[in-house]
Amino acid sequence: MSNEIILEAVNLSKVFGGLVAVDNVSIKIKKQTMHAIIGPNGAGKTTLFNLLSGVMPPTNGRVIYKGNDITRVSPQKRAHLGIGRSYQITNIFPNLTVLENIRLAAQAMGKDNFKLFKLADNFHQYINKSEEVIDMIGLSGRELFLARDLPHGEKRKLELGIMLACDPELLLFDEPTAGMSSEQVPELIKIINKVVHQKDRTAILVEHRMDMVMSISDVVTVMNQGRILAEGSPHEIATNKQVQSAYLGDLYGELT
Ligand SMILES: Nc1ncnc2c1ncn2[C@@H]1O[C@H](COP(=O)(O)OP(=O)(O)OP(=O)(O)O)[C@@H](O)[C@H]1O
Ligand SMILES: [Mg+2]
Repeated sequence: MSNEIILEAVNLSKVFGGLVAVDNVSIKIKKQTMHAIIGPNGAGKTTLFNLLSGVMPPTNGRVIYKGNDITRVSPQKRAHLGIGRSYQITNIFPNLTVLENIRLAAQAMGKDNFKLFKLADNFHQYINKSEEVIDMIGLSGRELFLARDLPHGEKRKLELGIMLACDPELLLFDEPTAGMSSEQVPELIKIINKVVHQKDRTAILVEHRMDMVMSISDVVTVMNQGRILAEGSPHEIATNKQVQSAYLGDLYGELT
């Protein structure tokens, strides 16, 4: 873990009509950490991700990435700056193959899309990059499968691959294991852990599976009703009385 801050939210708020979904949230994400954000349904986790990745503008507050204010920067531009995002709802092209899905993501990030001279060279470069990613996410042998034909667990891996094809420095995961059966979860967690640590990346992870959060995170932030309730090491959070009472009757049992 480094002490350098890669991403910072300063007094971020998002109001929908009369509902304050994110309420004056300030958070600092240190470089090379696995930083989990947990909290009950409706706590504002996905909305916070939308503000960090630029999918929606905040009502108030600022987002700082590597010292620069990116509050008004588009999601595409943020992706070019190195911020990758996975969605709670899957984000793949069902009628394209695994390889095409990943290659398109790599190509979209390429700075030389319109330079025709080197097209063939670049194409090979993108294929090589895609093969490397496919290997990392454990989908070797599935390159030519249509995305829609993959079982759900492999679709989630493909989604991770699409994010990795863009070579992000900071990865935002919104419930990467959603909809997966318990047997499939450990493998995906292992892959996520590997892709984050292998290249000194940083990740922010929203996840309901407490065992997973506690085992792989360096820092845990707890949100409740749009606000930050607590932040600390997994152990500090698991033993925090305020956190336990916020989860009472819901996830309380899973925290201990
Ligand atoms: N686009 C929107 N328009 C109106 N209200 C919204 C919108 N997006 C989210 N909300 C509301 O904001 C609150 C926070 O929702 P959000 O999806 O951020 O929670 P969450 O912590 O991600 O929950 P979950 O764990 O169920 O995914 C909820 O009350 C939700 O209904
Ligand atoms: Mg959510």
